Parts: sequence; structure tokens; C-alpha cells
Amino acid sequence: MRTRRSLIDLTDLSAEEFNEVFARARLFEAEAPEKRLGGVACVNIFFEPSTRTFTSFNLAELRLGADVVNLTPSDLSYLHKGESVEDTVLTLAALGIGVLVVRHPHEGFPAEVAQSFDGHVINAGDGTHAHPTQALLDLFTLLEEFKSLAGRTVIIVGDVLHSRVAHSLIAALRRLDAEVILVGPEAFVPGKYAQDGVRIERDFDATIPAADAVLLLRIQRERIKSMPIADEEYIARYRLDEKRLGHLRAHAIVMHPGPYNRGIELTGNVLRFAGWRYAKQVMHGVAVRMAVLDLLVNGS
Ligand code: NCD
Repeated sequence: MRTRRSLIDLTDLSAEEFNEVFARARLFEAEAPEKRLGGVACVNIFFEPSTRTFTSFNLAELRLGADVVNLTPSDLSYLHKGESVEDTVLTLAALGIGVLVVRHPHEGFPAEVAQSFDGHVINAGDGTHAHPTQALLDLFTLLEEFKSLAGRTVIIVGDVLHSRVAHSLIAALRRLDAEVILVGPEAFVPGKYAQDGVRIERDFDATIPAADAVLLLRIQRERIKSMPIADEEYIARYRLDEKRLGHLRAHAIVMHPGPYNRGIELTGNVLRFAGWRYAKQVMHGVAVRMAVLDLLVNGS
């Protein structure tokens, strides 16, 4: 992170850089941080709805003492008055903005912004491409549980194809030497995902006893024109329910990036399961985002 200006995806992050983020996040969870972003203006621009990520970035920035401005698409004159993205970014730079946190439905939008902005850009989710801070907080949650991920098996279930969370997480899990099993129908988990350390399985039940962790994904309906699988079939084959929970190993945990759909990818039993780590993921999200902000702005 030392020399990194922006965080667009995790594909070129070294294991050392991952550990740097996690070490700093641990520090921030252990004690109230100094105002390490005092005087730094952070602008959050979300072109898609967001509850968790938006609130979490806001809290992270406020806890580090930053000045925080939130823009929604209706506030952005370039959308209505013909200004280009580049010129909007130049305006924000002229205002002395230090950090832009950007969520956008189009893959590559945050990277495009980063090219014309001389401050720091953090990708808060771009289309189906990447969601680096979500993957970092998922890894942080896993590491809190297992100390090291080497040789651990993480099963990711569901709509991998349309999930930016899964795309960022798969790359990151491999960097930390975890074994990954992707589970779902062909339309959600096509063969192209198979690679060294990443296996594809269609039969969820057959994989459950191997899991150290199961990460469930929401079906990204807003990105799918016609559903390739009926809900009833998806539920029968892939929903984590009481019976399937019973086949998990005693130490196994279950995660979900949220928002989760009760009745589709999980039943209420999962929310009462001792290994359900959703609240931990959300909680760690603030410290992990503080760590990313601090490392980008202040360095190691
Ligand atoms: C995800 C997202 O927006 O990519 N949610 C999140 O940020 N925690 C996943 C989703 O929408 O299903």
C-alpha cells in the first residue's frame, strides 16, 4: 500500500500488502484511532443503492477525522448538464478533495476516474468487476477465525458470474493460499472459473463436509435478463437450510456479503447458527476501510 495511490481491485496486491491492511485494521479495532485523516476531504459517490458499504465508508472516514461529503447521482451536474466525467473529476480535484470513494454499475468506471484524478480513488463496487474492500473484510473475518488460510477450504455458493464480491474474493483467497470450491449451476458458475486451487462443483451437498467456511451469494437479479434457473430448483439444490447446516464440520463458519434474501439462498436457521459470521463481517468492514483509507493517504 506504501506506493499505491488507488484501490481499484485486488488482483495485483501482494500477500504483504494484504497483511499490512489486516494489521492496521486490527490496530484500529483495538483502540480508538487518532484523527489520521484530519483535514482530508473524502467524497463518496454512489451511483447504485448501498446500505452496508456506504454507511461503513462514512463511519470509517468520520472515525479518522476526515471531512466527508456524500454525492448521489442527482447531485452531479455532469449527468444533466453535459459535463464529462473527466471534467467533473477535475472540479473535485480543484476543490481539494483527497479521496473519492466510487460505486458504479459499469465495470471500469472507478479506474477511469482514477486516471483523471490526482488524489486517491477507492472502488466501492463496479458492475460485476470488483469490490475490493468487501473481499478484504471477508478475508479479515476468515483470518480472525483461522489465523492462516493456507490449506483451508472456502466454498462460495451461488451467482458467482454476476458477483463482484466473488470476483475480488476468489483472487484474494488464492493469494493467501486458500482452496476455493465454487458451487452453483453452469449459468452462475461457468467452467471458465476453474484454475489452480479453484474447483467447480454442481452438487452443494457433496461439498459441505469439506468446508472450513461457506460464503453464500445473492442472486444478482438486477444484472440478469432472464433467470436461468427457477427459484424452486435453486432452493432445492443450493439453499443453505437446517439439514445442510447439519452436515457442516463443527468449526465451520457461514458468511454472506449481504444483502441476503431469506428463503432463497438461506433459511432463518442460518441466522441462528453458531457459526454465522455476518455481523462480524459488517463490523470488521469499518476497521478494514479505515485501514485502506489510512494506508492510501498516509502510507505505511
Ligand atoms: C454486494 C454488492 O453490492 O456488491 N453487497 C455489498 O456491498 N456488501 C453484494 C450484493 O449486492 O449482493
